Amino acid sequence: MKDTRKDTIWQTEEIARSYLEGIRGAIPLADEQVDVMLRLLSASGRPIRRFIDLGCGDGVLSEAMMDRFPESTGLLLDFSEPMLHAAVSRLGGYGDRVRIESTDYADPAWVQRADRPGTLDAVISGYSIHHQPDPIKKRIYHEIYDLLAPKGMFINIEHVASCSPWATDLAEAHLTDAFDAFNQPGDEARQHDDSAASRHVESENKQANILVPVEDQCRWLEQIGFIDVDCYLKVFELAVFAGRKPA
Ligand SMILES: C[S@@+](CC[C@H](N)C(=O)[O-])C[C@H]1O[C@@H](n2cnc3c(N)ncnc32)[C@H](O)[C@@H]1O
Repeated sequence: MKDTRKDTIWQTEEIARSYLEGIRGAIPLADEQVDVMLRLLSASGRPIRRFIDLGCGDGVLSEAMMDRFPESTGLLLDFSEPMLHAAVSRLGGYGDRVRIESTDYADPAWVQRADRPGTLDAVISGYSIHHQPDPIKKRIYHEIYDLLAPKGMFINIEHVASCSPWATDLAEAHLTDAFDAFNQPGDEARQHDDSAASRHVESENKQANILVPVEDQCRWLEQIGFIDVDCYLKVFELAVFAGRKPA
């Protein structure tokens, strides 16, 4: 059966726009997630000069990277044309510090976009890899490990599975409250996003998410060879987990 999820979810203008305008800014603890990512990388033991942002969206995480690490250059990969346009427009001011390319990282050929194995200081990803079936998630984590230099870090800010249906309900209520608070009635600028945001959440949940508990994903990273693997921040189903390649 043909898998059409990527076409129906991210490659439409409407879904990309509803995420960027109505969802991204509402994500609970988003600033803390970025802070944790930057702290981990600052402590990694490598200067952060070259990184990849997998499923970059409009480049929100890469922007934080380039501001914190002024010597860094980023390769931003995504397969959604509307998202790639948003990234170009957001990051235009960074000139040749950014390369923004259209790639489907479910295809193992994506690694050829990077220069050479064993040379990257960091790979980051935000809310993207959870769309892949588990064997492909594991394969991508392996590919990331191979691309990293010694002490290089992988940081995944990710939507993960709850421990039970009861906890899933709590997580969904938490997100719904956050989106409602962000898209408050009376805020003319955001009102039009309300229904699109609901549709986005619905379609994300029902069709596209293949969520895995963060503990399982941390174990996968350890099995691949990463060290210092942990979930460094978590609120309900939103986690920041990471690992470092040994020296
Ligand atoms: C929820 S958005 C997150 C964007 C950004 N990382 C952020 O933190 O806001 C998920 C992004 O992953 C991209 N994406 C999903 N699957 C992908 C794939 N197989 N190859 C490339 N990009 C993918 C989507 O197009 C979308 O831009």
